[in-house]
Formats: sequence, structure tokens, C-alpha cells
Amino acid sequence: MTRIDVALAGRSYPIFIESGISAHAGMHIQGPGGDRPQVIVTDETVADLHLEKLRNGLNRAVETIILPPGEATKNWTQLETLVERLLSFGVERGDNIIAFGGGVIGDLTGFAAAILRRGCRFVQVPTTLLAQVDSSVGGKTAINSAAGKNLVGAFHQPSLVLIDPDFLATLPSRHLRAGYAEVVKYGLIGDADFFEWCDAHAAALLAGETDEQTHAIAASCRAKAAVVAADERETADMRALLNLGHTFGHALEAEGAYSDRLLHGEAVASGMALAFRYSARRGLCPAEDAGKVERHLQVHGLSTRIPDFAADPDRLIAHMRQDKKAVSGKVALILARGIGRAFVAHDVDLEDVRSFLSEEIAG
Ligand code: NAD
Ligand code: GLY
Repeated sequence: MTRIDVALAGRSYPIFIESGISAHAGMHIQGPGGDRPQVIVTDETVADLHLEKLRNGLNRAVETIILPPGEATKNWTQLETLVERLLSFGVERGDNIIAFGGGVIGDLTGFAAAILRRGCRFVQVPTTLLAQVDSSVGGKTAINSAAGKNLVGAFHQPSLVLIDPDFLATLPSRHLRAGYAEVVKYGLIGDADFFEWCDAHAAALLAGETDEQTHAIAASCRAKAAVVAADERETADMRALLNLGHTFGHALEAEGAYSDRLLHGEAVASGMALAFRYSARRGLCPAEDAGKVERHLQVHGLSTRIPDFAADPDRLIAHMRQDKKAVSGKVALILARGIGRAFVAHDVDLEDVRSFLSEEIAG
């Protein structure tokens, strides 16, 4: 078993990664709740495929709350439903609420745990690649608002992250590829060697090889844990780097109405390619690196272009203005000086970005 610690004064927690670990989940999920029933929050798809396995792995009674799958579940209505149901089960602060699913279930359940009784414990048991390498770690919780994605939320760290790569066996390949975008992101941000590893092993990972998946999950969690420990609340320029590709990506997702037209990881892939091309255009990054990033993503089935439904630069810029990294109306973008050399560019000239996006759309 691989153990990675997220070191946060007073609120440190472990990430356990092992194929088959969910069969012994009860050994790991402990807390002041003692033998009180635990509550699993999941979605219909994950419940059909894997709930039985997790229930068997927990050695105590469980209640379950099953929500509809999909990004639309991260909304006010589902949050209210979830909070009221958790209260109806009498969940106390020390009980473990178990978020069992992808990033949607993790973000929504984490936010519910953050506001329930002013803060309850929760555990992440992620079942998508994206959630195993990114969203289950670091305590960002949120729902979407009409004004944009993840605009209503809280920092609320889990007490444990339990990662079983075996769950990925049932994940549709489109979702596996989308999650892979968040894996290669760590290489592009700060680890050129990991990018090279990805180049050599992504095909095996995407073909379902557990060794490659486990290695990529551990490397990603290690990278994320280090960043979160150093800059939990994104007040320095470290955690913001994890948003490589996200400002462009969120704008594309918004144009796709957060639907299956464009998954989050797919939007991030296009966003990272755009960030590298924009960096090259500004002379910050070798064009060769931008080309390498683009080819890598394309070879592994990820689009690197602006989709037709998002081909309006003014609308994209309007979405980018909503970015959470904006300060006094100035938008920050994560750009790169090369593969593994991302940095935060403050006070970006949005007129220049607009003309770049127009060229991208035309070209
Ligand atoms: P998701 O939770 O919607 O899961 C994708 C689909 O896969 C769903 O239909 C789900 O039912 C299904 N599924 C889940 N596990 C499965 C399995 N093992 N087998 C078969 N099907 C399975 O989406 P996601 O891609 O996991 O997460 C995307 C969300 O994560 C977005 O809302 C994004 O904003 C958020 N996110 C949050 C953070 C963070 O730091 N909190 C980071 C990145 C992304
Ligand atoms: N996914 C970006 C972050 O957790 O900060």
C-alpha cells in the first residue's frame, strides 16, 4: 500500500492507495464516531456498479444517499436535499460522511460536510481517475452557480482519502482520458521527468493497466499533497499553478453548459494546449514545447482546440473574467516557460488574449 500524507497543521490526513483497498475500507475509515452508522453519499451509476463492494468493506452499519449522476448535481437543489437528508440521519460532527464517486460527488459532499453543523468529518473514496488524482485531495469543495463553475464553496479538508484503482475498470474510456488530462498536468506544471514518464506509459494507463494507473495516481497525489501543504488556500502562487488550463477550460465548459458536450478533463486538456500556445505566442515558451504538449494530448485522444460550440471570443473572455484568481478585476493566467515550468501571470492583457482566441477560432 502507498501512503501519502497531506501535511496541514492540526488537520493532516493520509491518502491510502492500493488495488483492492476498498474491500477493507472499515479498517481505515475510523474516527470519533466509533460504531455509529456511517453515511455513504454516491451517485446512481457508482451505486449500481460498486456500492455493494464498499458496503461489504465497511465493518459497520451504513446509510446511503444516492444522487443523480452528472455535473448538474453540483447545484443548490441537490445541496439542500443532501444536507437535509444528512440531518435526518442525525449525522454528528465526528461522524464520517463518505463521498463515494467522482469529482461531482466529492465536491458536493465535501461542501455539505463543510456547512453541516458548521463542519463535519468526511472521507473521500474516489472512483474516477480525475477524482483519484486531483479532486479528492486538497479540500476544495463547491457547487456551481448560474454565474459560473465552482463559484460557491469552501475549503474543507477530508479526514482520509482511500483510493482503490480497481474502480477504474468500469470507468468509460472517455472519462478515463478526461481524468488523464489532470495526470499529465502535474508533469506540465513542474515535473518534466513525469511528463516523459507519461509520454512512455499513458497508452498502458489508458488501456487499463493497474500498475501504470497506480503509479500515476501516487505520483499525482504526491505532487498535489506537496502543493496543498505549502499553499492550502491559494494565497501564494503555488496552488494556483494547479489551475493550468483551467481558466481557458472553464470558459469552454461554460459554453458547453457544463454538459456531456465537454467533460471537465477534456476542457482542461484544450485549456492546457491553449495556455502553452499562448505562452509560445508571447515568446515565453519554446514553440517546440507547445507542439509537444499538443501532440501528446492528441495522441491520447484529447482535443487541443476550441470546440465549435464555443467559437465566440467575447463570450469566452466574459467567462474568463469570472475566474476565482481575479484580483481587483485583473485576471491571472497560468502560463509556461516550457514543459514543467508553469508560472502565474498576473494582470493579463485580456485584449491580447481575445485576439489570440480569435486567431485560434479562425485557424
Ligand atoms: P463525475 O463525478 O461526474 O464522474 C463522471 C461520470 O463517471 C459520472 O457519470 C459517474 O457516475 C461515473 N462514474 C464514477 N465512477 C465510476 C466508475 N468507477 N465506473 C463507471 N462510472 C463511474 O466527474 P469527474 O470527472 O470525476 O469530476 C468532475 C468534477 O470534479 C467537476 O465538477 C470538477 O469541477 C470537479 N473537480 C474538482 C476539483 C477539486 O479540487 N475539488 C479538481 C478537479 C475537478
Ligand atoms: N484542482 C485544483 C486545486 O485543487 O487547487
